[in-house]
Amino acid sequence: MIKSVTGTKDILPSDIPRWIYLEKTVENVFNNFNYKEIRTPVFEETSLFARGIGEETDIVGKEMYTFKDRSDTSLTLKPEMTAAVVRSYVEHSLGAQQSLVKLFYISPMFRQERPQAGRFRQFHQFGAEAIGSPSPLLDAEMVQMAYEILKSLGLKNLTIKINSLGTPKTRENYKKILKNYLADKKDKLSEDSRRRFETNILRIFDSKIESDQIIIKDAPKLIDHLDEESKADFEVVKNQLSKFGIPFTIDPSLVRGLDYYTKLTFEIDSGSVGAQTALCGGGRYDLLIETLGGKPTPATGFAAGIERILLACENEKSFTVPEQTINVYLIRIDNDLESVVSELAGKLRKENLSVDFDYLQRSVKAQMREANKLNAKYVLFIGGDEYKEGLLKLKNMSDGAEKILSLEKIHELISTIKK
Ligand code: HAM
Repeated sequence: MIKSVTGTKDILPSDIPRWIYLEKTVENVFNNFNYKEIRTPVFEETSLFARGIGEETDIVGKEMYTFKDRSDTSLTLKPEMTAAVVRSYVEHSLGAQQSLVKLFYISPMFRQERPQAGRFRQFHQFGAEAIGSPSPLLDAEMVQMAYEILKSLGLKNLTIKINSLGTPKTRENYKKILKNYLADKKDKLSEDSRRRFETNILRIFDSKIESDQIIIKDAPKLIDHLDEESKADFEVVKNQLSKFGIPFTIDPSLVRGLDYYTKLTFEIDSGSVGAQTALCGGGRYDLLIETLGGKPTPATGFAAGIERILLACENEKSFTVPEQTINVYLIRIDNDLESVVSELAGKLRKENLSVDFDYLQRSVKAQMREANKLNAKYVLFIGGDEYKEGLLKLKNMSDGAEKILSLEKIHELISTIKK
């Protein structure tokens, strides 16, 4: 038997109502903040992500699904949306039509990580990108939106961590400080971290190896070496979050696994999902647009993992969705009425009613069982003496009330079912 690929999973019909509930909640909050939806292709040229996310990151170095197509072009299934959205923003000059472009997305992503609970190789993100303003109030808006979505889904066990990575200049200075600190400890670092020491020292913070973490734990913190502008912006974000009544903690080690961040970074963790606690993450990325060929343009955003959020929601029983129902199930009493039933179903469906009936020549009892399984609000019996007289029996499944209706007066039937 061929099975789904490791790290991917089917979203089965029984899962779909929870996904739709989440998607509707997400769209509603983004709509309230005036974000417009964008959809980009599933694959892009590999160089977009290599340049955008950074060659030394885990994503680009180890996790991308990269392949050559038949014309020998290197393509990559998108591991995240920010680079793709920025590519689209630059390519279509979206900034020319509007000075601040606020976009949101819901889309599958692909990373070849080691699968575990809450970590997949195909997973789904929703997220937002606001391109065109350096305002720290917009950074606060990102945290507020992300938090509001998670709260709207009924989640409680949440922790918000924020940090500032400063301007690129601050970071360059800090990298020197970090290099000094690590110089005599370099030999004790893992091979990956020794390489990163030379190529992109900040990425050492991403190491999951314990011995690296012990060394890096006591390293000087970037947040203690911020420039005045970054400090002032960070203050604005903190004050604004307090005004919104949003609780947060400052986590100086929150460098995030992507190279493009400047100034604010944030993550929201859940205590209800096991090892993979990050439900969402984001921050400001003021240099990415020019890195990808656009005019220098400040921007900020976040993305959230849908599978993880749904897992947290399930564990906290944070929301329930109504059971799926259909308006009416048609029950054929006489077998020779199959085509009459099918025709009637067609008429009712045209009236915007959800209708189903039996295709397996099952007994009346089995058809009733099916109607119950489908949570039909009504069943309509077709056949017997009643049918010969042009009549049908309609049964309300919630109270058992029955009504005899004339086949000729189909509108009466429709209005009763619609009530
Ligand atoms: P990220 O932190 O790489 O950021 O991913 C955001 C969220 O996607 C994570 O917090 C997690 O919930 C989910 N996620 C990531 N990898 C997996 C996986 N393998 N399986 C399941 N869920 C996963 C970004 O992607 C940035 N583009 C966020 C951003 C937008 N920054 C600025 N704008």
